[in-house]
Amino acid sequence: MNYRIPTGTKDILPSEIYKWHFVENKIRDVMRRFNYAEIRTPMFEYTELFSRSIGESTDVVGKEMYTFLDKGNESLTLRPEMTASVMRAFIENSLGELQSLNKVYYIGPMFRQERPQKGRLRQFHQFGVECIGSQAPENDVETMAVALSIYEELGIKNLNFKINSVGCHTCRPRYREALVTFLENVKNDLSAESQKRLLTNPMRILDSKNEKDFQLTANAPLMNSYLCKECSAHFDKVQAMLQSMNIAFEIDGRLVRGLDYYTKTAYEIQSENLGSQNALGGGGRYDLLAESLGGKPTPAVGFAAGIERLIIVMEAEKLSFGEAPKPDVYFVVLGETALKAVLPLARQLRQLAFACEIGQNDRSLKAQMRDANRQNARYVVIIGENEVAQNQCAIKDMKSGEQKNCPLNELSVVLNGALKP
Ligand code: HAM
Repeated sequence: MNYRIPTGTKDILPSEIYKWHFVENKIRDVMRRFNYAEIRTPMFEYTELFSRSIGESTDVVGKEMYTFLDKGNESLTLRPEMTASVMRAFIENSLGELQSLNKVYYIGPMFRQERPQKGRLRQFHQFGVECIGSQAPENDVETMAVALSIYEELGIKNLNFKINSVGCHTCRPRYREALVTFLENVKNDLSAESQKRLLTNPMRILDSKNEKDFQLTANAPLMNSYLCKECSAHFDKVQAMLQSMNIAFEIDGRLVRGLDYYTKTAYEIQSENLGSQNALGGGGRYDLLAESLGGKPTPAVGFAAGIERLIIVMEAEKLSFGEAPKPDVYFVVLGETALKAVLPLARQLRQLAFACEIGQNDRSLKAQMRDANRQNARYVVIIGENEVAQNQCAIKDMKSGEQKNCPLNELSVVLNGALKP
């Protein structure tokens, strides 16, 4: 074969798509119950939207974006995430003028040129929500509850739900100063990556996966002891609300997240079944993003979560994805005359909402029966030249193995009674 799939991408094959449908149906159902409406934005945006929103010094913007010049010499980027796109759409369509609170969700592919490994792809899928227009802590908690409800209802166990506050423009500069002073003392022993970050994004050093960095920063000052009054009160309320809803959480003062737009609340949901890429999803508040993109000041909060990672965890926990779809009726067709009789019958059954498959007329009875079995058909209807001549067919119940004859013109009534979609 001359062609292979691009590195870090995956085909989702017909045999596994039912898992995706199952998960997506659950996501849409939970979104409906929390009253979030779907939004779809383009797969690519002008590059500056992402560099502005996510931050020049982040890995996503610095290393991972799929950026290209189109034929009109415009710099475009395949979306690495949706928060920036949603905020762009919110501002551009003046959604804030229609209602004070806009609650939207999305499901779709994102693109980041990362080093592929388990749970890390270059084209991956996220679902997420953005709740735009309020600074109330109940909205932070609502977005968390959406994510946790989806995992809970899918049956996922052993989740670690971590929350933190990353402060705001009032309190963060003072913290940053204290952190940099601390890090300067251990600077020469930090990993090369962290030494670079000391200049660009020192808070990310707390998030370093390097074991030595982790030890060196064990006693580093943490943001939550530097929060201003407002951020501190907000964080307290978030915790109290989570407690009132019986949602277990852990405060992780080192949780900083990899995107620059966060203010106040940051959170992550992790699973032990994921290995080093342990984040199922993450989010937080981003009260300054609208303004930085030229909109009116509009507080907002949201999260996004990886669907591939969710499926990995569900498989590891041996959870059910429901049943793969299967034909209700499989017509075993023997000969041209039989085919002529089957075509209108199948049409009628499909109109009645039954899933029908018509076997390949040029294959033997045995081969078609084998195929019906492989496809897990519920009933097989066998029609050959003799059956047509006698206006009959044979119906085989594939569960019980029982077979009986039935007049052709009564087939839909008999199946309707037996199957009731
Ligand atoms: P993020 O933490 O960059 O946040 O991504 C969210 C989730 O997407 C991750 O926890 C992970 O499950 C999944 N993910 C990210 N990169 C990959 C990858 N290369 N392969 C597979 N899965 C991946 C955001 O994207 C923010 N926009 C979340 C947000 C929404 N914050 C506020 N609103």
